Amino acid sequence: MVKLVTTFKYALLSLLYLYSHNWLHVMAQSPKAGSTRFYDFKVQLLEVNKLCNTRNIVTINQKYPGPVVYAQEDDRVIVKLTNESPYNATIHWHGVRQILSCWSDGPSYITQCPVQPGQSFTYNFTLAGQKGTLFWHAHFSWLRATVYGALIVYPKKGVPYPFKQPYEEHIVILGEYWQQDLVQLEKTVMASGTAAPIADAYTINGHPGPKYNCSANDVYKIDVLPGKTYMLRLIGALLNMESFFSIANHKLTIVEADGEYTKPFTTDQVMLGPGQTLNVLVTADQPIGRYSMAMGPYMSAQHVAFQNITSIAYFQYLGATQNSVVLPASLLPRFNDNLAVKTVMDGLKSLETGNVPKEIDTNLFFTVGMNVNKCGSRTPKQNCLGVNGGVMAASMNNNSFIRPDTPILQAYYDHTNGHFTEDFPGTPLKFYDFVNGAPNSPPNNTGSTHGTRTKVLEYGSRVQLILQDTGTVTTENHPIHLHGYSFYVVGYGSGNYNPQTASFNLVDPPYMNTIGVPVGGWAAIRFIADNPGVWIMHCHLELHFDWGLSVAFIVKNGQGPTETLPNPPPDMPRC
Ligand code: C2O
Repeated sequence: MVKLVTTFKYALLSLLYLYSHNWLHVMAQSPKAGSTRFYDFKVQLLEVNKLCNTRNIVTINQKYPGPVVYAQEDDRVIVKLTNESPYNATIHWHGVRQILSCWSDGPSYITQCPVQPGQSFTYNFTLAGQKGTLFWHAHFSWLRATVYGALIVYPKKGVPYPFKQPYEEHIVILGEYWQQDLVQLEKTVMASGTAAPIADAYTINGHPGPKYNCSANDVYKIDVLPGKTYMLRLIGALLNMESFFSIANHKLTIVEADGEYTKPFTTDQVMLGPGQTLNVLVTADQPIGRYSMAMGPYMSAQHVAFQNITSIAYFQYLGATQNSVVLPASLLPRFNDNLAVKTVMDGLKSLETGNVPKEIDTNLFFTVGMNVNKCGSRTPKQNCLGVNGGVMAASMNNNSFIRPDTPILQAYYDHTNGHFTEDFPGTPLKFYDFVNGAPNSPPNNTGSTHGTRTKVLEYGSRVQLILQDTGTVTTENHPIHLHGYSFYVVGYGSGNYNPQTASFNLVDPPYMNTIGVPVGGWAAIRFIADNPGVWIMHCHLELHFDWGLSVAFIVKNGQGPTETLPNPPPDMPRC
């Protein structure tokens, strides 16, 4: 219903817009183009009451979670972002491949300057060949803790799902909630040299659920009919944690991951890192009652504090009384159950086969991990609270990425020097036993280099990238997200990557945009670099991204207009 209303409203708006903005030429360009969806996003503060406190959170259109963007495969989406908040803001369309529209990708200081208070910017991209559950989120400071929402792309008209049509669909967004101002929190954390305080709550669609103080009625609920099958569109919109999800006494059948169909895989629980989405089918085949849907922590690192209270929502059968017993989500794994994570990963296979690049012309090997840098502050008691009096950092190939003041895409496009370098190494400078032999405490030098280093890729190059977790400080599952592409996850394993023994799946690997590199292990991904622009790849744990666990790929233009990034839109914000 909501969807119909939205569609209708935007259909009307679209017409108006078409006349006033002359977008028609855009639509005429592509013969298979779908329709155009217009949305107005206003960054606004919203007063909320949560966890016994009232505070203002940053939202889009005063909705938390934010408005759902609905579209169909191949549609164009045009979103006018107007910033009515006191903070800078941008929106990233997580999982949208942004073919020839890198300017609309959204990461601040990578593809655009943030939209300043009072300013606006119009994002304009297509969903060419894409359908499924994606999401959008802010990509400035830590605003995405509350600035996020679903992006639902339906198959084209008349095209069914490759599974039995569910009776109903529900969006289930897993998040983390803080009582603090998130922009201030980021500054404080970065100045401290150490980790972030734990979230005050986990949330399901913005609701902490009954286990938290003052939250008995702050609970999300799905009403279900006995015997019917429901599709839950699960979205990992967490900030600094990964999370398990399960429903008491019910099985989940995964049918889609990161907006791509998978072979159905049935499991008791799933794990979502920030940036990951999963569609699961659930059949209400249990005795009438009210069942817990639960999310709880997955923490694979050592000695890291985290919120340990489960967020509960209800999966409630028609006929269950208000006070019928809420069955515990006894199926939630322990917080460090790495095997549970592997089991789900093992179950993910693409529904379709055959598109995996078999030949590779660019072989890359990036380590991902944590570092401790020497304290350089005159006030170490305030700024160097990391391990052994150092400053915490994170890196790829031991380089901590620095976000520049000028967006890399702009600097690259304008050929202005001094904002980034093109010397990110394609392999680590030193090979050693990354997992077990990493120098994990001073007096060893565990530090990283710093720089805005990019890796340049020729247009059309067939890339294989090994992501290798390191044990410097601690091993950990890192959810690595690549902008502008999905990639085939052709292999993964524990320990150090060994080409002699690694086994690859080149038949039906999952096609994803975020890969949880196994704790103390590796993952191998493949993609064809055929989308020109500047694409950030980073750990989607926000703290790690801030600490430098990131690299920007520059993908060069190919031949002619279909392989060349167009000019920037005229309303590109200035820094
Ligand atoms: Cu969803 Cu750069 O992130």
